[in-house]
Amino acid sequence: MPFSDTLKLQNGKEMPILGIGTWQGKAEELERALDAALEVGYRHIDTAFNYQNEDVIGKLLNKWISSGKIKREELFIVTKLPMIGMTREGPKKFLEKSLKALQLDYVDLYLVHAPIGFNYHGDDKLKFCESKGITVVAYAPLGSPGRAQFFKQMGRAAPKIPPLLDNEVVKKIARKHRVTPGQVLLRHLAQENVAVIPKSTNSTRLQLNYQIFNFCLTPDEIHALDELDVGPDGRSFNFADFPGYVLID
Ligand SMILES: NC(=O)c1ccc[n+]([C@@H]2O[C@H](COP(=O)([O-])OP(=O)(O)OC[C@H]3O[C@@H](n4cnc5c(N)ncnc54)[C@H](OP(=O)(O)O)[C@@H]3O)[C@@H](O)[C@H]2O)c1
Repeated sequence: MPFSDTLKLQNGKEMPILGIGTWQGKAEELERALDAALEVGYRHIDTAFNYQNEDVIGKLLNKWISSGKIKREELFIVTKLPMIGMTREGPKKFLEKSLKALQLDYVDLYLVHAPIGFNYHGDDKLKFCESKGITVVAYAPLGSPGRAQFFKQMGRAAPKIPPLLDNEVVKKIARKHRVTPGQVLLRHLAQENVAVIPKSTNSTRLQLNYQIFNFCLTPDEIHALDELDVGPDGRSFNFADFPGYVLID
């Protein structure tokens, strides 16, 4: 089953279903990686004020746009209002800071980083979102293995990170299609109309992560991957793990 490489947002704009994440991307390696990513075809970039790398992205975007290699309107740039900006003046102040760093005069999507969420207790959250016209983006679509390093650098114990890339079901499906486990995880989500923004600053991995449009998972494979869902126990990305963030029940 072919699927579209973009998702339509409620405002009618198209968002590329595959983007590149930039959390933990550091100066030169990020610049090199994004250069390679734009060459490969990525047009959707996810960043945030909190990632402290918007200036690196801005420099690279400016290089591509000013040289005429790419047009601004071909890109889909996402950034986020930091938690410290959740005040009356915050959104304007922080959006302006982000735009300046990104060397842009608009972003395509401005999100609230770690907003106060709501709990939907129904079975199928994706169907619920679809019924309300809500577009879903999967953060940490590979399970965010890089978090272990992040916590280590902070001198803190890492949460238990689900080893999605090592899962036997995922690996078996990957062998069958002669792709990588990462490609299976990304294709699984995208085939269910969930956008994916895997982060990689490794040129080989970021290229492989982009190659999810030339194979198709069967309904049985989709079902087998869906069955791996362990519900709330699998949600190890918890902002309460981050300094200064208070979880209110
Ligand atoms: N707003 C939020 O609250 C929020 C939260 C989480 C994430 N995000 C966004 O979502 C993006 C993705 O999430 P994430 O970075 O946490 O995790 P992820 O994309 O699931 O995983 C990235 C990690 O996996 C490695 N990797 C990438 N491709 C791989 C492959 N094919 N095989 C094996 N390892 C691979 C990367 O290392 P290398 O770079 O060395 O390849 C990196 O350590 C973030 O970068 C960020 O933009 C947003």
